[in-house]
Amino acid sequence: MEKRPTAFFYTHGVFFVWLCLAASASCDELTLSFYSASCPSAELMVKNTVRSASDMDPTIPGKLLRLLFHDCFVEGCDASVLLQGTGTERSDPANTSLGGFSVIDSAKRLLEIFCPGTVSCADIVVLAARDAVEIAGGPVVQIPTGRRDGKVSAASNVRPNIVDTSFTMDEMIKLFLSKGLSLDDLVTLSGAHTIGSAHCGAFSDRFQQDSKGKLKLIDTSLDNAYAGELMRQCPADANPSTTVKIDPNTSFVFDNQYYQNLIAHRGLFQSDSVLLTDDRTRKLVESLAQDKVIFFESWAQSFLKLASIGVKTGEEGEIRASCPTTNA
Ligand code: HEM
Repeated sequence: MEKRPTAFFYTHGVFFVWLCLAASASCDELTLSFYSASCPSAELMVKNTVRSASDMDPTIPGKLLRLLFHDCFVEGCDASVLLQGTGTERSDPANTSLGGFSVIDSAKRLLEIFCPGTVSCADIVVLAARDAVEIAGGPVVQIPTGRRDGKVSAASNVRPNIVDTSFTMDEMIKLFLSKGLSLDDLVTLSGAHTIGSAHCGAFSDRFQQDSKGKLKLIDTSLDNAYAGELMRQCPADANPSTTVKIDPNTSFVFDNQYYQNLIAHRGLFQSDSVLLTDDRTRKLVESLAQDKVIFFESWAQSFLKLASIGVKTGEEGEIRASCPTTNA
């Protein structure tokens, strides 16, 4: 059953969004105070772990945010992406460039010392992504907890549920709608690409180098000078592990620069550029590019929806003792 934000307000620099079940009177499965008695310092321990990891390595926030996206879209936000082993989600090629696992493991180890068997890996993934955004300068978002960990993780579930950069707008909309996310959520959550980096292979089909080493644009929606910069960073013989910053201007800052990049035809992936060229999404791109506060408000709402996809609560799933393995 889809869970939707049913009330939203902003006060003292914090976004509050309440979640209720859309078709039932029960609003208490995920709650803001879920660990208040069982593990009062849970959120603080996760935040401190994310903060110290990010201080040492500024690429951590981007990794944690993408990890949440890939967790929630496959089997719901249930930490299925963390399970290790042959044939699990983590082993699928679409997930091999994911990172941030060691940060989740560190937070879990700490929580197991102070509150054994209490805090789910699924909640840690959500809290860590929420904290990553805040640490990178993004909005402070209150999120309800109480998710439980899934026991199923199959590589075969990844491709049908994860968006590829080659997807058309219709394909992206269809997949997002199937997760309870709207067209506006798609535009807003794509704003995650204001931080982090990408491997050359994720966008190198958008241009070519001719025999004289000159740029040949394959995707003409891309700014010529920007494509030239990308070609220099990602030459045809580049090492496959080469990465570029998705938002070259403020790569480690969570702001609305991503949308300004789109307007300047500097969206890195084809799936980014299409948000500007498509009539259904251009207006929202323009408004988010103009106003960071509007972006942050939209982000708070859409993030909550993302973090609530297919959650397991109550008697479902389990609380794993260790995030990479199920208890059984
Ligand atoms: C809408 C369709 C989307 C597509 C096609 C897409 C695709 C990609 C690709 C190909 C990469 C580069 C991976 C690599 O080469 O290492 C990437 C990076 C990233 N994506 Fe997305 N993404 C989408 C939406 C999202 C959403 C909804 C979020 C989170 C809410 C997100 C967060 C990120 C982040 C933070 C990075 C940087 C990761 C890092 O620095 O390691 N993306 N995305």
